[in-house]
Amino acid sequence: MQEFLSHVKQGLSQSPKKLSSRYFYDAKGDALFQQIMKMDAYYLPRCEMQIIQQQSEQIAKDISTSHSGLQIVELGAGDGSKTKHLLKQFGPYFKPMEYVAMDISPNVLAINEKLIKTEVVGINHRKIAGNYFETYKNLTPITKGRLVLFLGANIGNYPTPEAIDFFNFVKSNLTKNDYFLVAFDLVKHPRKIIAAYDDHNGITKQFNLNLLERINRELGANFEVSDFDHFPFYNPITGITSSHIISLKQQTVEFPDGFTINFEAFEAIHTEVSKKFFWSDIEAIAHQSKMRIVQTYLDQQKAYAFVLFQPHA
Ligand code: AVJ
Repeated sequence: MQEFLSHVKQGLSQSPKKLSSRYFYDAKGDALFQQIMKMDAYYLPRCEMQIIQQQSEQIAKDISTSHSGLQIVELGAGDGSKTKHLLKQFGPYFKPMEYVAMDISPNVLAINEKLIKTEVVGINHRKIAGNYFETYKNLTPITKGRLVLFLGANIGNYPTPEAIDFFNFVKSNLTKNDYFLVAFDLVKHPRKIIAAYDDHNGITKQFNLNLLERINRELGANFEVSDFDHFPFYNPITGITSSHIISLKQQTVEFPDGFTINFEAFEAIHTEVSKKFFWSDIEAIAHQSKMRIVQTYLDQQKAYAFVLFQPHA
């Protein structure tokens, strides 16, 4: 809460103004993101599901060459509705198999536990609620192999330098025989990408503007949300979709402590990076974090990739 306030003040005092996408996900933001995932234009979950359903067994085979027992740690696990399909196919290849679900939301983890325990026979389920930057550090060394999962194209929220830091962070709890499996949304036609972040029903707009509503709700600011609009922009050179909130007029916003923010007409707040990856980006991240690419699993359209990494010996 204090941290939220200080991040917001700091971000809005900068030029250009910015807010962090990590604050999208309050209860309302979670619900809006669920709606986004059902949109035709938002192709990412369908690509991910296709890879999980068609290639999880191959992933299990590739990993089982070095392990019989496996601990699977998922960062940002969510409700488990996608991961259960992966775990089901992993079942025959690993004994014992433990699944450690890490997520910020205890409610979501309770759903995860129920779903996975009923659908995946013989699995050991553990749930750890909290910010995974904190909870992952506390994992203890194990004798069986470890596979860390980071799915949902969430890596796209980290610009390349941060992605490298994130890989190094994950690597700190991997031995040379462990694995890291990451889902990347790949570059594709720019119009297809921009359509995924600019739907005509305005769901993504609501998702983005919910940041301002959340600041009003939790920090008592007085954003007049209808005086702001959503504007995403895709740069095909960098592969980065940037989402912005645009102030539609000159206006001033106040916080309860008297702190004020002035907007010029049509001034933007940067709110999110959704990076689309070139192969060279993925290779550069691997190289710079001293990991090697073991295997790659694509959907039929080659629009999305699961990449399996292992630390360099
Ligand atoms: C959850 C980070 C993968 O960037 O595609 C969806 C979030 N933002 N629509 C993405 C999001 C706007 C999403 N990730």
